[in-house]
Amino acid sequence: MNTEKLRAREQWGKDPCGAIHGRKHELDTREFFDAVEHHRYQEYAPWMPEVMGFDEFAGARLLEIGCGMGTDLLQFARGGAKVTGTDLTPRSIEISRQHLALYGESGNFAIADCETLPFADDSFDVAYSNGVLHHTPDTAGAVGEIHRVLRPGGHARVMLYHRRSFAYWGEVILRHGILQGEFLRGNSTADIMSKYVEFNESGGRPLVKVYSRRQARDLFAMFREVKVQVEQLTRPELYIIGRFIPERMFRCLRRSVGWNVIVSAKK
Ligand SMILES: C[S@@+](CC[C@H](N)C(=O)[O-])C[C@H]1O[C@@H](n2cnc3c(N)ncnc32)[C@H](O)[C@@H]1O
Repeated sequence: MNTEKLRAREQWGKDPCGAIHGRKHELDTREFFDAVEHHRYQEYAPWMPEVMGFDEFAGARLLEIGCGMGTDLLQFARGGAKVTGTDLTPRSIEISRQHLALYGESGNFAIADCETLPFADDSFDVAYSNGVLHHTPDTAGAVGEIHRVLRPGGHARVMLYHRRSFAYWGEVILRHGILQGEFLRGNSTADIMSKYVEFNESGGRPLVKVYSRRQARDLFAMFREVKVQVEQLTRPELYIIGRFIPERMFRCLRRSVGWNVIVSAKK
């Protein structure tokens, strides 16, 4: 396994995605998972259930690539999808399996690299991935794998980090790169993202890439009906100004300079 993938395993083995929001509770309890879920869908990204379509795939064979702790996978299972969760990090699979079982939902699970999915061609109706493919060296190869395992007419829904975002230009470039002197110390944009974008309590340094709408669309050129949308911004990210921006204007900002670019496409 190459260094970037080993670093990813190290990062998410020690700091499972979102675990920080449940830290007041034991990891294998409902209180823990409820806190993680509450933060994600009530505070951080209330747009997710609708945009990701957790209720849209009842009866479908749904594959999640990089399922982390299974937070979204559980929502799809609750929506009636027949779910399969995969992740490069063995700990993620262990937690996801426990997570779904705790809420009386079932699924299949596999430790798998998104660049070489261990499934036959045309074996899923839906392939979903949230915040994963920008952490792997061959993102285009991973999109090719999604295309391969989807049946003709199957849906892909994939979130990548957005290059033309407030988070990238305001936080990565301006705040850390220029004002805090990371560029002067010889660090690249990739170094800064690796250090600050993911929460690194354990000191991990995962690979992080960003995509413009156009770059995201190009990655999915082999698909049909490709739709690209932008989401994800919180008022605190805009500092003091965030408190005073009217809701409509805030929604506009979220959908133009938000941190997530979401691609929906059909095979
Ligand atoms: C930021 S977390 C997102 C987890 C989950 N999708 C969520 O929304 O909570 C990134 C996840 O991608 C996984 N990952 C990183 N590189 C991967 C790869 N090459 N193949 C599969 N999973 C990978 C990590 O182990 C981690 O669980």
